[in-house]
Amino acid sequence: MTIKNICCIGAGYVGGPTMAVIAQKCPNIKVTVVDINESRINQWNDPNVEKIPIYEPGLSDIVKEARGRNLFFSTDVDKAIDDADMIFISVNTPTKTYGIGKGMAADLKFIELCARQIARVAKDDKIVVEKSTLPVRTAEALKNILDNTGNGVNYQILSNPEFLAEGTAVDDLMNPDRVLIGGDIDSPEGKEAVEALTDVYAQWVPRERLLTTNVWSSELSKLTANAFLAQRVSSINAMSELCEKTGADVNEVAKAVGMDSRIGPKFLKASVGFGGSCFQKDILNLVYIAKSFGLNEVADYWEQVILMNDHQKKRFAANMVKAMYNTVSGKKIALLGWAFKKDTNDTRESAAIYVADYLLNEQAEIVVYDPKVTEEQIYSDLDYLGSRSGDANRQAVTVVNDPLEACDGAHAVAILTEWDEFTTLDWQKIYDQMLKPAFLFDGRRLLEPETKKKIGFEFYAIGN
Ligand code: UDX
Ligand code: UDX
Ligand code: ADP
Repeated sequence: MTIKNICCIGAGYVGGPTMAVIAQKCPNIKVTVVDINESRINQWNDPNVEKIPIYEPGLSDIVKEARGRNLFFSTDVDKAIDDADMIFISVNTPTKTYGIGKGMAADLKFIELCARQIARVAKDDKIVVEKSTLPVRTAEALKNILDNTGNGVNYQILSNPEFLAEGTAVDDLMNPDRVLIGGDIDSPEGKEAVEALTDVYAQWVPRERLLTTNVWSSELSKLTANAFLAQRVSSINAMSELCEKTGADVNEVAKAVGMDSRIGPKFLKASVGFGGSCFQKDILNLVYIAKSFGLNEVADYWEQVILMNDHQKKRFAANMVKAMYNTVSGKKIALLGWAFKKDTNDTRESAAIYVADYLLNEQAEIVVYDPKVTEEQIYSDLDYLGSRSGDANRQAVTVVNDPLEACDGAHAVAILTEWDEFTTLDWQKIYDQMLKPAFLFDGRRLLEPETKKKIGFEFYAIGN
């Protein structure tokens, strides 16, 4: 079976870049990305390709090449479902904020709505691909809904977890370490569906990197990969606190440890804490699943990764207050960076939100600069925490478009995202414009300490 027409439900950080790359690499496949969010679709269709709603290096060029040729963005979900032979579900699966599993389980209501919509609309056989991160056995739930509410057409459900990291999405999609496809490989129809999706990726990914498993292995592999990655960050962050007490330097430790080929050098950068839409959510999911099977030791083991991360964010903010004579009340503090990592405008679970919230509780005045995050987003992130009223957030937090303006007259500057441009700022000028003593807190080990201390900064870095 050859796929001619793909529909992707959900035009977000996963669906958008993934479909753009599939369309670019497979000019013979028509790819339609749909979303219920009309303004998001309008942004994807903006004649000025720089205005697409997601910032990823290299993405706008791909959209420019493929859009209108075989890549389309639309709000007509029904039509796109009807036309497609293969449907990707790429909607968000946030952590539940209500009811059973609140704060832990993934909220599957958006997935279920998609399934019901597909079941209502589809008139011929479809392959449905889960692209969102989902708890193990979601495929089964999807299949139940499709089979029981549909028009008698046949569905094959595949799990094809996304391993792209934001900020490097295009590179990761072009040249993935592996592509994982889970399906019902014991049945001929399931095998055919798996092969159909494999053929799509084989247009640009070497066959030996295309991995086939059963659906449940595939679903669980995604959670496992993210849990392992997050665990590395929490492990090195745990060591960063010990380094600060002992006079060891976490960068030196990470380098020495990472040169052991069994450990490897990547994902050992100590930081103010990991963020992003996946790590916390996926681990909470894992914890929830483990608990639901009565596996309390397994649940506790993984939950500790989250607890360590919460501690790291809090400890960074607490250290700032402590260094500044135990009070930041009424003091102006500049936060450089709001995104959860560089090269993305995504702020979900960003450490910056929690650091800002802590400092606001201490009555600091906050000024934020981030090269890609909008003012609106920053306020909405703070409002979402519910620590204080929206008005109070707008009163205490200012957002500016210029890093020097942010630091002007500040008591302290904190680097919370590792944007490259922060390394080349005129730090002498920043120092001159700040109140003295001028505090500089590096939450990303981005800046070279000696030159900053020489300028006169009271300089603090994670793990040093
Ligand atoms: C370890 C360190 O590897 C070595 O660098 C250090 O100098 C001394 O301690 P060792 O204890 O000899 O070496 O063996 P190692 O290969 O690390 O295995 C330790 C234990 O982990 C063994 O019981 C091994 O069976 C187990 N293991 C290792 C696993 O169960 N799974 C694995 O994937 C790897
Ligand atoms: C992650 C996974 O890497 C990706 O495979 C999966 O598909 C989605 O989740 P992402 O959340 O985009 O990707 O970013 P990632 O690069 O993994 O970083 C996550 C967080 O960890 C960021 O806040 C980052 O700053 C932090 N981090 C990462 C560190 O603090 N130190 C490190 O060494 C690496
Ligand atoms: P991710 O990082 O997983 O891609 P995003 O929140 O960036 O998450 O994107 C998910 C997108 O899915 C959002 O733009 C949202 O509007 C869209 N979406 C959610 N539910 C539906 C639905 N039932 N039909 C169409 N689009 C949906």
